[in-house]
Amino acid sequence: PRVAVIVVAAGSGQRLGAPVPKAFVGLDAHTILRHALRNVFAAPLAQVVVVAPEDRVGDALTDAHAVAGERHDLVTVVAGGATRQASVAAGLAAVWSDVDLVLVHDAARALTPPAVFERVISALEGGRAAVLPVVPVVDTIKRIDADAVVEAVDRSVLAAAQTPQGFSRRVLDAAYADASADHTDDAALVQAAGVPVDTVAGDERAFKITTAADLDRARALLRSAAE
Ligand code: CTP
Ligand code: MG
Repeated sequence: PRVAVIVVAAGSGQRLGAPVPKAFVGLDAHTILRHALRNVFAAPLAQVVVVAPEDRVGDALTDAHAVAGERHDLVTVVAGGATRQASVAAGLAAVWSDVDLVLVHDAARALTPPAVFERVISALEGGRAAVLPVVPVVDTIKRIDADAVVEAVDRSVLAAAQTPQGFSRRVLDAAYADASADHTDDAALVQAAGVPVDTVAGDERAFKITTAADLDRARALLRSAAE
């Protein structure tokens, strides 16, 4: 089957608070987007769709071509929307008609190992319609009501959702065509459309760079990998 990956990179990164949109913040000599794309391109893909802020489409193309090398024909860059869901929809509209499987990935999860992509793709190839990489919840979680703790929540029934989330193209197209409410991720949107979602193992390194502390962690991981 032919696989496309939509890399959403159109957010501003308010919580990070950098002077440039989050995907264009440097981790080392290279941007978050470029690192994310390096891991994306390790998979055998038919197409990579990068969704960038409207005024950064050219910069995104530069990063994507630098990573793609001879495979630059696989790259499509489109402008995103006001919400993540709108950005995914914009990316989905640019997926080629002969693509069978679509992965949606956050550029902000820049250090996601290629093995996570492999696990998601093989689950889809095995016939799953929707696949979500998850990691165990490590913190003790409490249900609260304002300032009061109501109860502890059983961690064993919880998991943290990551990306890339993978879908049969037909399922994702149909779910997006019908989507009314705003969902936090694509798995939630597809599940709301009545499609069962299966999990595969995510990876600690697929954490999302959200805050300044996350950025420090990503930079430190790259420095120690370079040693
Ligand atoms: N994203 C997007 N379009 C949007 C909002 C988010 O493409 N309108 C992308 C981001 O670029 C990011 C991913 O969705 O790669 C996950 O979103 P998040 O980490 O929340 O990034 P931002 O929305 O940019 O950050 P913040 O919420 O702190 O503003
Ligand atoms: Mg956001």
